[in-house]
Amino acid sequence: MTVRILGTGSALPQTTVTNDDLSKIMDTSDEWIRTRTGIGTRHLAKEETTASLSVEAACRALENSGVSAQELDFIIVGTVTGDNITPSCACTVQAALGADRAAAFDINAACSGFLFALHTAYAYIHAGIYRTGLIIGAEVLSRIMDWTDRSTCVLFGDGAGAAVVRADETGLLGFEQGSDGEKGVVLSCPGRPNNNPLVSNPTDLRFVHMDGQEVYKFAVTTVPASIARVLEKTKTAPQDVRWFVLHQANVRIIHSVEKRLKAGEEKFPVNLDHCANTSAASVPILLDEMNQKGMLSRGDKIVLSGFGAGLTWGTALLEW
Ligand code: ACO
Repeated sequence: MTVRILGTGSALPQTTVTNDDLSKIMDTSDEWIRTRTGIGTRHLAKEETTASLSVEAACRALENSGVSAQELDFIIVGTVTGDNITPSCACTVQAALGADRAAAFDINAACSGFLFALHTAYAYIHAGIYRTGLIIGAEVLSRIMDWTDRSTCVLFGDGAGAAVVRADETGLLGFEQGSDGEKGVVLSCPGRPNNNPLVSNPTDLRFVHMDGQEVYKFAVTTVPASIARVLEKTKTAPQDVRWFVLHQANVRIIHSVEKRLKAGEEKFPVNLDHCANTSAASVPILLDEMNQKGMLSRGDKIVLSGFGAGLTWGTALLEW
């Protein structure tokens, strides 16, 4: 028994901010951002929260799948920008949906969060513990960006994507996930001051710090190797895969992975132009956009791959 995605949904904040908008408040340009990343516009949260975006995406996924909130055995949210330390985003979503049978918790695996949530769902379902669940990737990254650091803040956007999953004979055909905590420092956000009276905290705890070139090197080596291992394990040729839905960090990373796999550029959809990098939300948002456009057909083989802070990575091969 494996886990199958029954339906998808996504939600983006109402406010959009273009590269040109950013160039009015910092020393940057549409040309610099677009040529290096493929990003044109991002959605940034004003009234929205990580939980409200998650709930909106979840409602759409439930509707798309024809599953009711009461049928959910679990809710897992991959996020590093939950609105609270506690309660978790997943518990807030559970309350909003009235999914009172569900066990709910968050996973912190940064941009790999949705993949880790999918694999956790598989483990529960394969073990026979649960049957139906909701997995979400959601971020309001704009709340942890240093808006005076043009080398990071221009890259990110806010949003949420969700999928309803259920036990089935087909669906997830194979996966792997991994972490390299030794390299965690290349992409970090300390975040938590120690409030006890014995400690004086450094001042810049709140923001994301990134060594862009190290992250780039990590992504272009780890992602194709991880995908190749999953394809080998499942005896699948790259040519047999209909879509490679990669974490949307940077179009150059996606092109590099595509060249290494020699699978054909047209199989690597990109939505960076209007979403930017939404971390854990990027894979489920893109998957939902493809689903809504009718690009996914029953039986299609689809690779999902996420990579990010931790460092972490996760790859799944699905039969749609
Ligand atoms: N606008 C204009 N100039 C800028 C900007 C900006 N927004 N940001 C940096 N610059 C300048 C720098 O100051 C530097 O100027 P200098 O040469 O005068 O010192 C110059 O541009 C080049 O800076 P680099 O950091 O060397 O730029 P690079 O070509 O490496 O591109 C980028 C930066 C796009 C971040 C690249 O390293 C990259 O793609 N890294 C991958 C990281 C990534 O995608 N992270 C996303 C989050 S991680 C994740 O999701 C997994």
